[in-house]
Amino acid sequence: MNIPRHLAIIMDGNGRWAQSRGLARVKGHERGAETVRDITTFCANHSRIERLTLYAFSTENWKRPKLEVEFLMKLLERWLKNERDVYLANDVRFEAIGDLSRFSDPLQRTIREVEEATLTCKGLTQSLALNYGSRDEIVRAIRRMIAQADPIDEAHLLRALDVSMEVDLLIRTGGDQRLSNFMLLQAAYAELFFTPTLWPDFSTDELQSILTTFERVERRFGGL
Ligand code: FPP
Repeated sequence: MNIPRHLAIIMDGNGRWAQSRGLARVKGHERGAETVRDITTFCANHSRIERLTLYAFSTENWKRPKLEVEFLMKLLERWLKNERDVYLANDVRFEAIGDLSRFSDPLQRTIREVEEATLTCKGLTQSLALNYGSRDEIVRAIRRMIAQADPIDEAHLLRALDVSMEVDLLIRTGGDQRLSNFMLLQAAYAELFFTPTLWPDFSTDELQSILTTFERVERRFGGL
């Protein structure tokens, strides 16, 4: 039986969820943040899932209207401050991945504070991808390898990435069937699941049903 040790999710569809209700797109992000909490808590209580990586803000998302970007930054900061106690209560270690240097100093500080506060949590690790793009991650990894004079091989490259653990199961909500520059190396052998459900509507029941399907998949990793 397959259990994903590392589950990665592209959380898509917040804007459409809001627009279909006559609401501003940002309302969808607010609701999406609630789904993040539900799914994280579910995974924290699932004894075999070790890491949950969520695509929250991509290197391309800066191209969105200024107001939406500003809203997302504020939401993130407010949400992280509130979430600290939820992480602790669920024994979740929080970790941000991506190039954080582009964020404001207060947001960077909040991220570091929550990372430090949850450092000793031993249950699930939630990695939140912020200003993350796989290509950017690979470039930063190669720079790191050169600076450390690492041997250029697959093992060292994986180790130099923001997340070294391979993804077992990758889910994308919102109906599109693409990876959008997310976990390209880590997902080399991942099973991919695409659902039309918009992220704010994605439920723990649907996740459970995807996990049940995943349990039965035969994973060959290039072998027979
Ligand atoms: C994609 O929906 C979602 C995002 C670009 C941001 C993801 C953000 C959240 C889930 C909420 C904030 C997260 C945290 C952790 C506080 P979209 O806007 O591309 O939706 P669309 O495809 O319908 O336009």
